[in-house]
Amino acid sequence: VGHIDDVQELRKARPTSIPERFVRDMAERPKLAATLVSACDIPIIDLSKLMKRDKDEHQSEVMQLKTACEEWGFFQVVNHGIDLSVLENIEKVAKDFFMLPLEEKQKYPMAPGTVQGYGQAFVFSENQKLDWCNMFALGVEPPCIRNLKLWPSKPADFRETLEFYSREIRKLCKNLLKYIAVSLGLKGDVFEEMFGVAVQAVRMNYYPPCSRPDLVLGLSPHSDGSALTVLQQVKDSSVGLQILKDNTWVPVQPIPNALVINIGDTIEVLTNGKYKSVEHRAVTHKDRDRLSIVTFYAPSYEIELGPMPELVDEKNPCRYRRYNHGEYSKHYVTNKLQGKRTLDFAK
Ligand code: SIN
Ligand code: FE2
Repeated sequence: VGHIDDVQELRKARPTSIPERFVRDMAERPKLAATLVSACDIPIIDLSKLMKRDKDEHQSEVMQLKTACEEWGFFQVVNHGIDLSVLENIEKVAKDFFMLPLEEKQKYPMAPGTVQGYGQAFVFSENQKLDWCNMFALGVEPPCIRNLKLWPSKPADFRETLEFYSREIRKLCKNLLKYIAVSLGLKGDVFEEMFGVAVQAVRMNYYPPCSRPDLVLGLSPHSDGSALTVLQQVKDSSVGLQILKDNTWVPVQPIPNALVINIGDTIEVLTNGKYKSVEHRAVTHKDRDRLSIVTFYAPSYEIELGPMPELVDEKNPCRYRRYNHGEYSKHYVTNKLQGKRTLDFAK
């Protein structure tokens, strides 16, 4: 991806028309927010209620979680226990990074076929449409997956801030997976035991304003290759995330200080499709930018996965094969984002 495909630079240059490589085919173009059916909001899950000792309150929140995972694959978590300053600090270093001059950011280039560094991931051919987004992605946990050459020296507190943030998000993921297991009628530690030392990666997405948001996409439709994804939508950003619900794109209204959680492909496979990894995309805005910070939480690469026997029976025949998670990850990052197509690997 050269200079001309960097959307922040493109925005600065203010071309009179959107370059062809960003212009989507008719069928893919987004409807603008104003014309969307009034959004029904995605479910809200209160982590403090899930953690309550009071049986009734705990149980009713577990039921909410179950419905959210079955019917939406997405929810916003409130009272998640992460200090507001932790969310603010990561926002600040992410924003500072994207605002650096291009030459500085290009010291950390994303190599083709990888998803670490600065650039556009998932681009494999000259005629593939590009997303109106700049990405900066890093593997964080376990430490052996870190490519420290790509951890920026500016802003100075970037590394420390990301490490601290990732530790907090890791605790949240473990906690949520515990209640997700409980909501399936399983022992709380099944996922934790199955996953080994979980892999955690972060991706910061920066979407500059776009003069023709009706022609481009901020991020192509896809499902996530993770077990669980945690999305932080930065304060004062425009609404950008949309999820596919009953064949309609539904915008996700950010709730201040809440985190958006979605079920990834791994949980869809493990639950034999009971909990769904839902397709989503991002759209842009005419005069507002948007920043999102996404954490992918997934099993260790050497783990073999397939539908859990508890969730397979005569009424729910096995829908996926067993596979190695490392091979799945490799497949995911070496193919373009295209709806739920990467899950075909597990069929
Ligand atoms: C993502 O799916 O990775 C992020 C979408 C967003 O920016 O909201
Ligand atoms: Fe995603």
